[in-house]
Amino acid sequence: MAKKISTKGFEIYPGLLDRSTQESMVTDLRKCLQQAPLFAPVTPSGKPMSVRMSAAGQFGWVTDRKGYRYEPQHPEGMNWPRIPETVLSVWQAVSNCPRQPECCLINWYDDSAKMGMHQDKDEADFSCPVVSISLGDEGLFRMGNPERGGKTESLWLRSGDVVVMGGTARLAYHGIDRIRTGSGTLLPKGGRINLTLRVVT
Ligand code: SIN
Ligand code: FE2
Repeated sequence: MAKKISTKGFEIYPGLLDRSTQESMVTDLRKCLQQAPLFAPVTPSGKPMSVRMSAAGQFGWVTDRKGYRYEPQHPEGMNWPRIPETVLSVWQAVSNCPRQPECCLINWYDDSAKMGMHQDKDEADFSCPVVSISLGDEGLFRMGNPERGGKTESLWLRSGDVVVMGGTARLAYHGIDRIRTGSGTLLPKGGRINLTLRVVT
């Protein structure tokens, strides 16, 4: 098995995906985004998020003035594309979960995007982990605790790194403090893509 770092219940697999796997994944994701384009989400309080978002799978996670939730369709009405096999195979390799992911959330970060500390808690079955895949520029990932606040640990996630948030880390707070501009060579125009695979129901 690949090298693994465990910290605060988070399992990090540095460089799990080699370059050609990452390139195939980007090709697949471009097709997904042709069918279901990135959109600009707003929080329930009306604050625009700095990431742009789309999804693949039976459900996509969305947020707008009506709240955080999973939806079977994109906000513009189209169906979400299927989760690419290249992405599903990462779940098979690291999730240790008998269920299949029902959502692959696609977050796109430009140079100034970040993601505040939050829990992933809109899913029904917390025995299934969330599996996160990083592509493109590096992002500074902050890992917290199941309760808000307390000590945190930070780590730069690089292209090809995979994180499993299961067990005690399943409901732990986490976020992205900043993106290291120009640190990756995978995406010709720069930026960072993060995929999170989740079982929803
Ligand atoms: C998320 O928690 O939804 C994103 C994490 C990341 O971008 O690495
Ligand atoms: Fe999250």
